[in-house]
Amino acid sequence: MQTSEIEKVLISSEEIAKRIKEVAAQLDADYKGKMPIAICILKGSVVFFADLIRAMETPVTVEFMKVSSYGFGTTSSGKLSVSLDILSNIEGKDVLIVEDIIDSGHTMYALKNMLKTRNPASLRIITLLDKPARRVSEISADYTCFEIEDEFVIGYGLDYAERYRDLPYVGILSRSVYEN
Ligand code: PRP
Repeated sequence: MQTSEIEKVLISSEEIAKRIKEVAAQLDADYKGKMPIAICILKGSVVFFADLIRAMETPVTVEFMKVSSYGFGTTSSGKLSVSLDILSNIEGKDVLIVEDIIDSGHTMYALKNMLKTRNPASLRIITLLDKPARRVSEISADYTCFEIEDEFVIGYGLDYAERYRDLPYVGILSRSVYEN
């Protein structure tokens, strides 16, 4: 990869590891004595998910889901398209949704409402990145690793046209890449 494709490293792998350790300790305290179901929202959260569950001492079971939202106009009443659903029944279970980024909030808003209808005992959201400046749907995470400005971020799971997910850090993509 040309280094000129990355404008700068926004969050280094060391900073990510340090922050994950902190949130994992908080999750361990909050889920003490429990075994939550951790849901990885594909594809973006796969790297964060793998690091997070290994940093937690709390035992978890894992599930994977691929979703996208559509039909949002000026309101927050859009729909959720589920291309891969979880396999287990979450009724009466503690559920932790693991997301890479909350941007407009449409996806998480619709996902949370959908999972709520399955009657989990508790339903919490953790996100690696939060971009509050872009929020349209009224949703917030229970745990946020990093709040960021409205920048085009890639790496550590996040992509541009399916590239850069394998970078070990969160970077800002050069304008020259997506304006060409
Ligand atoms: C990204 C991200 C969130 C969603 C956030 O997924 O992983 O799920 O967009 O955007 P929103 O807050 O505006 O709804 P994307 O659809 O790009 O899929 P990917 O994770 O497979 O890259």
